[in-house]
Amino acid sequence: MIEDLESIFVTEQEIRERIAVLGREISAVYADVEELTVIAVINGALLFTADLIRHITVPIRFDCMRVSSYRDDVRPVQQPELIDMLRLEIEGQHVLIIDDILDTGHTSSRVIEEIRRLRPASVRFCVLLEKEGRHEVDVRPDFVGFQIPDEFVVGYGLDFAERYRQLPCIGVLKPELQNPPSWS
Ligand code: IMP
Ligand code: MG
Repeated sequence: MIEDLESIFVTEQEIRERIAVLGREISAVYADVEELTVIAVINGALLFTADLIRHITVPIRFDCMRVSSYRDDVRPVQQPELIDMLRLEIEGQHVLIIDDILDTGHTSSRVIEEIRRLRPASVRFCVLLEKEGRHEVDVRPDFVGFQIPDEFVVGYGLDFAERYRQLPCIGVLKPELQNPPSWS
């Protein structure tokens, strides 16, 4: 699998080290909060969330939201579809949203808007990757793992047509693998 990558932007070790730091930062911000509600945006944030919450020292409640913003390829859709909403009540609760990547910002802004509608006490937004120079919507994350160049990346939860999520690092696919006709 790893040989399908043309280049690696973030290594497994860099991810591990950065997540430990992020976990400490998040724990410090919420040190006085009795309980934090963590909401993962799946599928993309699955691996990141699993690793990050192990470094959060305040008690958490956990839930997921499922949003679809790409249809099996690299074309973004402007109106992300909310496929699965929360099970937990979050009114009056402190909420931390965890997402995989901030690209145009359409997906994250949609998620944040939906969460705010449920009147939590506070909302913060944590994203593993932020693509430079791509924002179309003004979304400011409170916590960012890594800034990356404007390239389509896979690995560590990020997919191309639901493939490559299992890679332990984050990188760019070889160009010849970016449009296999059998995956449509
Ligand atoms: P946005 O709405 O343009 O910000 O796109 C965010 C969503 O698109 C993410 O949650 C990902 O699912 C997907 N996405 C954006 N860029 C990439 C990428 O480089 N690799 C894989 N998925 C991406
Ligand atoms: Mg995706």
